[in-house]
Parts: sequence; C-alpha cells; structure tokens
Amino acid sequence: MRIGDCCIQEKGIADVSHAIHRNLNYHPPRAVRGDGPYVIDSNGKRYLDGCGGAAVSCLGHSHPAVIEAMKRQVERLPYAHTSFFTTGVLEELAETLVGSAPGMGKVLLVSGGSEAIEAALKLSRQYFVESGEPQRHLFIARRQSYHGNTLGALAVGGNEWRRKNFAPLMVPGNHISPCFEYREKRSDENRDEYGRRVADELEEKLIELGPQNVAAFVAETVVGATAGAVAAVPGYFERIRELCDQYGVHLILDEVMCGTGRTGTMMAYEQEGIVPDMVTMAKGLAAGYQPVGALLCKRHITDAIEAGSGFFQHGHTFMGHATAVAASLATQRVIRDENLLQNVTDRGRSIRKRLREALAGYENVGDIRGRGLFVGVEFVSDRTSKAPLDPARKIHNQVQKAALDEGLMCYGMGGTIDGRRGDHVLLAPPYNLSEEHETELVEKFTKATRAIFRRS
Ligand SMILES: Cc1ncc(COP(=O)(O)O)c(C=O)c1O
Repeated sequence: MRIGDCCIQEKGIADVSHAIHRNLNYHPPRAVRGDGPYVIDSNGKRYLDGCGGAAVSCLGHSHPAVIEAMKRQVERLPYAHTSFFTTGVLEELAETLVGSAPGMGKVLLVSGGSEAIEAALKLSRQYFVESGEPQRHLFIARRQSYHGNTLGALAVGGNEWRRKNFAPLMVPGNHISPCFEYREKRSDENRDEYGRRVADELEEKLIELGPQNVAAFVAETVVGATAGAVAAVPGYFERIRELCDQYGVHLILDEVMCGTGRTGTMMAYEQEGIVPDMVTMAKGLAAGYQPVGALLCKRHITDAIEAGSGFFQHGHTFMGHATAVAASLATQRVIRDENLLQNVTDRGRSIRKRLREALAGYENVGDIRGRGLFVGVEFVSDRTSKAPLDPARKIHNQVQKAALDEGLMCYGMGGTIDGRRGDHVLLAPPYNLSEEHETELVEKFTKATRAIFRRS
C-alpha cells in the first residue's frame, strides 16, 4: 500500500511516513483535491468542509477567481522581499483592508495568525517606548483565550492546557475572566450586570499590576477554538473600551478566527459598537489559498513611530508575500462582489435554528450559539445542571469522528470550560454555502450527534 492510501483506523502507517503529523499516533487520510465546499481524499471519499479546516476555507476549495489571481501573480512576480520593494497587490490589499475596518489606518501583512499577534504585541510595546512611556510592558488577556502558538502569543493566551508544558519559556501572563454567559453568568444577575462585572475585572487587574505598567489588553472579539463561538454580552466591550481609554492601555482585538466576514460583518468588532486600537486577522483573509495574516492599527500608532525611530523593529522573510497577497486581495473582492456577508448572516441563522430543532430532544446538546457562519455546539451531561461530560470520554473527538464517517468535517475541541473540562464542536462552513449544502451539513451533523447520544 502506498503512503496516504490509508484511513484513520490503520495502525503502523505512521512508522513509514517521514512527516511529523500533528498526532504522531494518527496518520490522517490523504487529501488530493478540492471541489467547491468538498475535500476529496485518495479513496475518492468526499467530505463537506463544515469547519473550513479551522475556520479558514471561507470560499471553498476551488474558487476560480482566487486561483486565477494567484496564477497571474506567480507568472508576473511570485515574491519580492519587502526590504527592497512594495508591490501593487500589497498596496491594493492594504487599501481594501483599511477601507473595510472602521477606525484602522495602517496594515502590516504577515503569514498567519500567530505572526499577526506577535506583531501586535511588539508594535504596542514599541509605541510606548517611543512615545515616552517605556515602563508599559505588560499584557492582560482572558482565561480560555487562544492567540497562537508562538511563545509571545502563547504567553498572552489564557488556555491552560496549551500553556502548561511551555510555561518555563514564557513571560508571565495576566488573565481575567472571559465573557462567557452560558458558563459563567450567575443566576442572581442579569446580562448587563454580568457583562459589567467581568469587564470590571480588567480595572481590578490594571490596579493590581499598576496601570502605568500595562501596554495592552488582548481579547478575541468572538472566542473561537477554545470555547466554541462565544460572543460577549451587549455592553461588555463598550466597558472594556472605556477602561482602556481611561488607563491609556491599547485594546488589541484578535479576529484571526472571527474576522474577515466570518460573523456576518467584515470585522466582528463592528457588532460591538467600538473601535479597537489594533486588530489581527488571518484565517479567512486568503480563504486558505495562501497563508496570510494581517495586523491593522490606528494611524496615530504608526505616526508615533514614524516621528520617532521611523522603523518598526519587526519583520519576517515572507511578510507581504506577493502571491499570498494576490490571493487575499482576490478573496476580499469575491466576498464583496458576490455579496457574501448577507449569505453568512442568513445561513448562519438558519443553521442554528435547524440544529436547535433537530437536536431539541437531546439532553447532551447544551448550547447552540455563535454569529454568522461561526457556530458552536456545546455538549453537557444534562441541560439543567450544564455539568460537563467526563473529559476522559473525549466526546468532542467522538462527534468529530462520527461526522467524518458521515463525510462532514467539523472541528471538535475539549476543555471548553477551563482547558480540561467541557466539549464543543465548531462549525465554520464557506461563506458561499448553498441551501443544498446547508441541508447536507445540518443532516450530517445531526446524524453524527445522534450516533453518539441517544435521544433522552
Ligand atoms: C483567535 C486566534 N488567534 C491566533 C491564532 C493563531 O493563528 P495561526 O494558527 O495562524 O498562527 C488562532 C488559531 O487558531 C486563533 O484562533
């Protein structure tokens, strides 16, 4: 048997692969082709990509306009180092992104989400060094957040499981509560009181650390991988913005997963009524056709550096990569020209409604939530107590596996509550999902869930 002509159940195949796969005891099927919203493996099995890998493939896997734009760019000029040159596609993409991100004035183009976060942390720090507040060096984020796997991003993030083994290598993190209504709102408080209470934890933390020492507060506008499409309650981010202004701290919103239209607006923060100082984006930026990330910031931040050293002390070899940027520009044009944000809003609403109806009789389906085509399903032992299932059962894996058997990709994750307890599955299908594919997604996910939980 050739390497890759295998399926999940086969054992020992990893011994003959030289690739370091994510799990060294699991050799994944070999993907050979994309066809709209489907990924096709070497056995010809078709998987409806209900999660875009990890909320990446927002235009499916074979969009002709993106492929054509990449081909054109490769033929003309695949890459030009940004120390020497800018390119037309880079300038156009920067203009497009600034135009679709209210309040933002400048863009740095990198190759992924972690790189975008690292750039945000360093830009925040350098801004304060150059504008007369060099003591500001600390970052505050939230428990259960994920901001990437490079050491700076991991240090800021608040997911215990991901941090634990690498803690000795990282600068200490400072974390406050997330805004996670389903899990953490007390029964004796209303939504406003809850939002205010958890936002005010930022002020307590600032006072504990000395606000003059803090550079930025970092948060995912809608929490993705670690908690499963969790949006904050209304008013939460307004209070956060107020506190950041009061104490002179940057507000960095991480929209690597929830940005670029995933929630139905180009930037997720548009639905919060605030403007951050910086925002990161990545996954849907080039729809997976190329690896691209971006950091956007308010103009006064780069103005300060322009008037000071003039040099942002940061860079990577592949930043602003011409072919990657061309793919991203084409992706952004498709989203605009095909009016996909409306589809994201409508289909997302419909998927949540249909899943709630189809899974109404299942006590183990605790919450179905999210915004746009960013849908989270959390599993519990029963709806009343919301008690988590035994983590040893890895229910999220079981649902993901059952869905794969049905020919549906969904993104299962454990540790929803505290990095250890809790299970959820994330759905993040393409923005151009048709009604027919929406039905297929709902039916396959329902079937997979029913296969794991008997109707109660
Ligand atoms: C919110 C958020 N920030 C940052 C990252 C890191 O992005 P990347 O994996 O492209 O480095 C992720 C990845 O899942 C993410 O969800």
